[in-house]
Amino acid sequence: METALLADLNASERYDAGKSQTNFAKDVPKIAKYTLADSANDERTDMDYHMQVVTKDDKARVLQFLRRFFFRDEPLNQCIELIPEGEDSTCIELEQYCSKSSLENNLSLMAVSTSGAIVGVLLNGKVEPPSDEDSEFITTCKNPKFRKIVRLLKYVDRNVNHNEKFQGLNVLEIRIISVDSNWRGKGIARALIEKALEIAKEKGFHFARADCSSYFSGKLCSRLGFEPIYKLKYADYVDDDGNPVFSPAFPHKAMVSYIKKL
Ligand SMILES: CC(C)(COP(=O)(O)OP(=O)(O)OC[C@H]1O[C@@H](n2cnc3c(N)ncnc32)[C@H](O)[C@@H]1OP(=O)(O)O)[C@@H](O)C(=O)NCCC(=O)NCCS
Repeated sequence: METALLADLNASERYDAGKSQTNFAKDVPKIAKYTLADSANDERTDMDYHMQVVTKDDKARVLQFLRRFFFRDEPLNQCIELIPEGEDSTCIELEQYCSKSSLENNLSLMAVSTSGAIVGVLLNGKVEPPSDEDSEFITTCKNPKFRKIVRLLKYVDRNVNHNEKFQGLNVLEIRIISVDSNWRGKGIARALIEKALEIAKEKGFHFARADCSSYFSGKLCSRLGFEPIYKLKYADYVDDDGNPVFSPAFPHKAMVSYIKKL
């Protein structure tokens, strides 16, 4: 099954995330360990954190965290300036997208510092059966900027699911990943994804999938053993006039869908 899936990806479309180098985080000390909440001890430093499953009681502070970071700095949100400058600005539709079946399913995780602040969030859910119809979410989305994003996600989903590759399989969808900008490059995203894969496997999921809009999340998935199955260059995703709908800043050149067998 896995071999068949991977064979579907044209070799020329494969995304060699390892080729490009960045200097990010090279001079920042990595966190040597994290603790799970139930095994936390007294040896923490200022930058220790633990992971928790997100529950509905965490909804308000998870959304507050995402408004500060993900809503502004995820490459697509950033390039279309999804939300205006200002501490309290938000995108209600993206809040609904985040809340919808991701905050109460015991599949999403957050990293919390010793002082109790959220420093990373990973929202996951179960992949819905594919459909050719635009979802109600797209047709009713009043925010034109966010509608562009959900249309792109749908476009990618259709391409990933052509030939009904995943029919009958339980696939975990990694939907949102965001780390506090002061805590990046320390392995938090990696730890969150690794833990989510462990939980998903325990719950009987067959695959995990991540549609990575960011070069960095893609690079991370590659390192975690995910395989690229579909790549859409932003330059090739154009509007009716032939202009790219999204032109994120370098090095984000493509949306790449990754899959990992659990
Ligand atoms: C993508 C993101 C979640 C990674 O979080 P993180 O905790 O810094 O990730 P990790 O520490 O596990 O690092 C993963 C790798 O990517 C690199 N990396 C992560 N963010 C980076 C950045 N902004 N610039 C350069 N490299 C970065 C890390 O250095 C690491 O590579 P290395 O192992 O070679 O050092 C974080 O950058 C973020 O929140 N970005 C904005 C939101 C976003 O783009 N989400 C993903 C959408 S699909």
